[in-house]
Amino acid sequence: MFLLYGAYGYTGELVAREANARGRDVVLAGRRADPLDDLAAELDCERRVFPVDAAADHLDGVDCVLNCAGPFAETADPMVDACLATGTDYLDVTGEMEVFEALAARDAAAEAAGVTLLPGVGFDVVPTDCLAAHLAERLPEATHLRLGFDALGSVSPGTAATAVDSLGEGGAVRRDGRIQRVPSAWKSRRIDFGDGERTAVTIPWGDVATAYYTTGIGNVEVYAGVPPGAVLALRASRPLEPLLSLPLVTDTLQSLVHRVAAGPGERKRERTTCRVWGEARVVGESGIERRAVSRLRTPNTYALTVDSALAAVERTLSGDAPAGFTTPGGAFGPEFVLGLDGVEGFDDAG
Ligand SMILES: NC(=O)c1ccc[n+]([C@@H]2O[C@H](COP(=O)([O-])OP(=O)(O)OC[C@H]3O[C@@H](n4cnc5c(N)ncnc54)[C@H](OP(=O)(O)O)[C@@H]3O)[C@@H](O)[C@H]2O)c1
Repeated sequence: MFLLYGAYGYTGELVAREANARGRDVVLAGRRADPLDDLAAELDCERRVFPVDAAADHLDGVDCVLNCAGPFAETADPMVDACLATGTDYLDVTGEMEVFEALAARDAAAEAAGVTLLPGVGFDVVPTDCLAAHLAERLPEATHLRLGFDALGSVSPGTAATAVDSLGEGGAVRRDGRIQRVPSAWKSRRIDFGDGERTAVTIPWGDVATAYYTTGIGNVEVYAGVPPGAVLALRASRPLEPLLSLPLVTDTLQSLVHRVAAGPGERKRERTTCRVWGEARVVGESGIERRAVSRLRTPNTYALTVDSALAAVERTLSGDAPAGFTTPGGAFGPEFVLGLDGVEGFDDAG
């Protein structure tokens, strides 16, 4: 049986409904009774109400937790404490680099407890992480990895809130195995995501953390496709970054986000698709560069998140995930993404 924490949030509710439709044994959980009661009554599921720091008292009979309550910088650590104390596997849909790094640092403790720590089982990072694993298989000597995605579709309130929380932090890449802070939109390049070239800029996406653990490649940059004018606008906003992390500014933006963002509706989730691109590189002793490029096409980011999170829970419940910290591509291999609904690839080139 698995417990879904944050079950009445936008993403949590999508996962709850799909788990129910698939006949899965799920307990719905969250910190507020009212929205949880309504959802549990409608889906005829068990529900448990508790704040995240009391989780250890509420995991009786639970084999695996799927945490959909973000920002995960607030919820992952206390939920992992509870999972380690009770011998429960932990999965979440974070995309937050710092959260991946914090959970990676708990690898030894999780392994000793026989517990799987598998963050990032949503759109961030399943397709990009599986693509990274695929590229590392194609070019095992690779020293540099570039990953990118072109996602057309609106975001949910929680994703916007998580993004607001990280405003002001600038960008990040991995250099020689270490995460390095860089300015926003630090590099831009033209990328053919599979539909002709478009402009993309570096972003501090979860793979800056995870791709290293999945592939061992120490230099990682992640790019997002942006409209042509956006590069200049992003760079022009750099002097404002310190202002954007002031509590007054983030609090105001947070309340705005929750008032105006509703998350993509069903029609938008069905219509929009996403393209994912990756390139592994190595320069040989002769100075000649070798490259491998591969691409994927996926459904809408939220549709994929629901499917990939449930698939990862099922594989974990079946005992397929190792104990300790792991990543989607590391735990289940590159082909994991190809088993998800509507995913096409790998399209190999280079
Ligand atoms: N990896 C991916 O690709 C991916 C995909 C989708 C979403 N996400 C991430 O998932 C998170 C949720 O997104 P969403 O759109 O579902 O947001 P949402 O609609 O705002 O829902 C957030 C949920 O988390 C709960 N929550 C927040 N802080 C909490 C805390 N400190 N303790 C207990 N519960 C807490 C909320 O409960 P209350 O209402 O009681 O505050 C709510 O149930 C975001 O961080 C988003 O970035 C990632």
